[in-house]
Amino acid sequence: MLDQLTMAPSDPILGLTDAFRKDPNPDKINLGVGVYKDESGHTPILNSVAQARQRILAAETTKNYLAIDGSPEYSQVVQELLFGAGHALLGSGRTVTVQAPGGTGALRVAADFLHQHFPAARVWISEPTWANHSQIFRLAGIQVQTYPYFDARTNALDFAAMCRALDSAPAGDIILLHGCCHNPTGVDPTPDQWRDLAGLLTARHLLPLVDFAYQGLGRGLREDAEGLATLCAALPELLVASSFSKNFGLYNERAGALTLVAATPEAAQQVLSHLKICIRANYSNPPAHGAAIITTVLQDTQLRQEWEGEVRAMRQRIGQMRALFVATLRQKGVVRDFSFIERQQGMFSFSGLNKEQVETLRHVHGIYIVGGGRINVAGMTRQNMDPLCNAIAAVLN
Ligand code: LMR
Repeated sequence: MLDQLTMAPSDPILGLTDAFRKDPNPDKINLGVGVYKDESGHTPILNSVAQARQRILAAETTKNYLAIDGSPEYSQVVQELLFGAGHALLGSGRTVTVQAPGGTGALRVAADFLHQHFPAARVWISEPTWANHSQIFRLAGIQVQTYPYFDARTNALDFAAMCRALDSAPAGDIILLHGCCHNPTGVDPTPDQWRDLAGLLTARHLLPLVDFAYQGLGRGLREDAEGLATLCAALPELLVASSFSKNFGLYNERAGALTLVAATPEAAQQVLSHLKICIRANYSNPPAHGAAIITTVLQDTQLRQEWEGEVRAMRQRIGQMRALFVATLRQKGVVRDFSFIERQQGMFSFSGLNKEQVETLRHVHGIYIVGGGRINVAGMTRQNMDPLCNAIAAVLN
């Protein structure tokens, strides 16, 4: 039976990391997967995280299971970070958070829950979007639709086309939005556009599912949550899948959360009871360590301050790399205008390089970027900038 299968395609992002590892080229550069690197090209453990880890290891007395929905302290700090301390939703009873193994785990729990209870609902994802979105929902049994998002001629959001498509979605469908730092384009709605989106979703009775994986890496921790705040002010119900892989550098700890805002506290508890069944049937209960680190950092004034500084430093370094990338391309004689890259937010730059150019970068120059032309700016350094821009100049000419 099993020998009837042929090879599945490798993952467009993590498969690239596998190929990179096997590449013997000593000058290879991996700008594929969205992982932050410091100026020396290393993915660091944040100081705040290292200190929290020490405290946890010193105090830990058991490895007993967590509850199916995870730790209540974690839920509280997650909600405070999403909505802001003192937000009316906190303590309203209308919002519940379940701890999840990464943002991907949170999306899959949401997908299982939605498919089980709203089998006719489809999910609408942006075109383009993170390479994993479509398969998460498809494999959960949900039909996937796309809405236009990016205008390649202007390197900007095609908001009119996006709204036209969403306006045609039937009531009860699910609209996946990126909370900030859209992956892969780095192009986000403006505050006015978020307000218009909130109005459209309300009028059409559509359910937003916000994928929020880059809080703090765009404009700032609170600034990046403004779109979510606008949705919360307008809509009675929504879901948020959040991740701490990037802003805490906790990639391999798989720390994320699924947060639900319901119209009433009773509805929130009812949904929670069903989410717990999805979790129990999937991975039983969540891993503890990453979430414990986040809770420890966010509950402690000194660690939190240090972490906020570390997020700021990551954000600033990414901004500097954007500027240096654009300037270096110019200096290498590239005539195409890449200045839009400085206006993009978050880890990625959507370069506009085509499939053939991406292939040439990889096979001739040992530079790995994602198929659609997405480059991980957070992986650029002053050292790799020259070879990177030389290679891009060569493929463009
Ligand atoms: C990415 O987009 O590169 C990251 O979100 C990592 C992943 O899991 O794909």
